[in-house]
Amino acid sequence: MARRQGKPPRSAFDRRSTAEEVTAGIDLTGKTALVTGCNSGLGLETMRVLAMRGAHVIGAARTQDKAAEACASVKGKTTPVACELSDFDNVVACTDDVKALDTPIDMLICNAGIMALPRLEQRYGLELQFVTNHLGHFILVNRLLPTVLDTPAGRIVMLSSSAHAQAPKGGIQFDNLSGEDGYSAWSAYGQSKLSNALFALDLSERLADTPVTANSLHPGVIQTNLGRNMEGVFSMALGVLLLPMMRTIPQGAATQCYVATSPALEGVSGYYFSNCNPETPSKYARDTALARKLTQVSEELVGKYLG
Ligand SMILES: NC(=O)c1ccc[n+]([C@@H]2O[C@H](COP(=O)([O-])OP(=O)(O)OC[C@H]3O[C@@H](n4cnc5c(N)ncnc54)[C@H](OP(=O)(O)O)[C@@H]3O)[C@@H](O)[C@H]2O)c1
Repeated sequence: MARRQGKPPRSAFDRRSTAEEVTAGIDLTGKTALVTGCNSGLGLETMRVLAMRGAHVIGAARTQDKAAEACASVKGKTTPVACELSDFDNVVACTDDVKALDTPIDMLICNAGIMALPRLEQRYGLELQFVTNHLGHFILVNRLLPTVLDTPAGRIVMLSSSAHAQAPKGGIQFDNLSGEDGYSAWSAYGQSKLSNALFALDLSERLADTPVTANSLHPGVIQTNLGRNMEGVFSMALGVLLLPMMRTIPQGAATQCYVATSPALEGVSGYYFSNCNPETPSKYARDTALARKLTQVSEELVGKYLG
């Protein structure tokens, strides 16, 4: 793991801490955050709390209307932008819109995601969770990197998941990114969430000589709209099984708000967090060679959108 500073300090926060609690006393006036998936669940709460602490939040959602409605629902300074992550031209247009705002981005929070599509769906001939959760964000981050480097200490925050450990053997199936040689809903979700963690890890290495940090995290298990693609009985059974672990949306948004804002994490890069504390992810998520290979393959897949 890229460890620019020693191990990050353990915080006093835990699974019950809320996004408001972990940001209490932090003044984000003059700072700008971009949050993808700002219209639902953890993204909406993250936008609300960062704006409440004084940040200008650029709220990205799949359509301009969804982004505008979400931004209008929170107090503080927000700017809506459209960003459909599974449409790469749309991601490029989003980054052009953001650059036109001429605002350096202090916190780039890649929060949007889809989970466990029951049947194989593809875009650009590739499995849709890999496209949406990883490649869309890969284009977004790479295109916006100059605006993050334009701040004194930019932070890139990738929403991964403990489900990254359900990625297939070998971590990323580079020879089956289409999903056509075998598809499992959870393993594909796991692969996409492992990709989020590996992307943060590789960014932390690539940006080691800059003040920009990149970390990934598991937010906990939270009842949001994320289960929308799961089929009825399975969804209900899983809900019952996970009930004892469930936390509220304000608690679920805590770790990403902590990683994006805590003064204690200045310069901390290349880590995976859970419950507002560093945690050791799977061996694949710590594999810097795998992270480099994912970046290289992603560049080959979407190079023409990177600009
Ligand atoms: N909830 C959990 O228990 C849990 C656990 C581990 C990790 N996570 C991660 O946490 C993140 C936030 O999830 P959540 O629980 O808040 O789920 P959510 O309520 O379903 O929110 C997901 C957000 O992503 C957006 N999104 C989906 N597909 C998109 C696309 N193609 N382009 C742009 N935006 C898209 C959704 O927009 P629409 O509303 O328009 O579809 C929504 O705003 C995800 O990355 C997820 O993997 C969640």
